[in-house]
Amino acid sequence: MTTRSFAVLGYSGLVGSHLAKMLAGDPRYARGTLVGRRATGALGAPHVSEVLVDFDHPEGARRHLAADDVYCCLGTTIKKAGSQAAFHKVDCDIPVAMGREARAAGATQFLIVTAVGADPSSRVFYSRVKGEAEAGLAALDFPAGLKVFRPSLIVGERSERRPAESIAMALMSATRPLFAGGLARYRAIDAEEVARAMHRAAFSATAPGVHVYEGQSLFALA
Ligand SMILES: NC(=O)c1ccc[n+]([C@@H]2O[C@H](COP(=O)([O-])OP(=O)(O)OC[C@H]3O[C@@H](n4cnc5c(N)ncnc54)[C@H](OP(=O)(O)O)[C@@H]3O)[C@@H](O)[C@H]2O)c1
Repeated sequence: MTTRSFAVLGYSGLVGSHLAKMLAGDPRYARGTLVGRRATGALGAPHVSEVLVDFDHPEGARRHLAADDVYCCLGTTIKKAGSQAAFHKVDCDIPVAMGREARAAGATQFLIVTAVGADPSSRVFYSRVKGEAEAGLAALDFPAGLKVFRPSLIVGERSERRPAESIAMALMSATRPLFAGGLARYRAIDAEEVARAMHRAAFSATAPGVHVYEGQSLFALA
């Protein structure tokens, strides 16, 4: 009988909603928790619960992150957040704080979506924030590792309108075959594929340290 458990942060988002559905339907998991800030309704799976937390008080989330596999799909845009500082909070400070709580609660691995180009010393603000999040989480030393997924543009149906993203999506979908070899890391990817890669990676051989999936290694798992 399985006792394995999961927790998902960012389950109301594009990638997170696909992921939550996949994990809820995986019989290898006995229990799951969706940790968020607003109720979205039940998934229809009795072993999966939705809990609301105050992300300004991370310690309140600790007991809900007491799971083997903690997945994080949290994120925003600078436009939506309203400032660089607010963006930094959602895309770096909150994920690292959740990682800290998950580690304290006994999580064995942490899996997070960041972005292609993530680098704490990047001159590009967005890439630097994503890189800082990865570095902050890497320092927590999860026993079965930190798994980092670095997609380029994520394609999928959104309820909210993001016009610039829609144009980029159409362009990148049309030119997808051109992104071969070393350019694969810049190829657009479906939200569902990102979720599938995360799900599969959770069950692949695990080891301490940081495991990065981008370009070919991301598409191979998806
Ligand atoms: N979209 C892309 O093309 C793209 C490309 C590369 C990397 N990424 C990264 O991939 C990840 C997932 O992207 P996505 O498009 O699936 O994201 P998304 O649809 O925008 O979902 C973001 C999630 O974060 C939560 N969130 C946002 N602001 C929050 C706050 N202040 N406090 C707590 N939770 C908050 C949202 O909750 P609510 O529903 O409550 O708002 C939602 O669950 C993100 O880290 C993103 O930066 C995205």
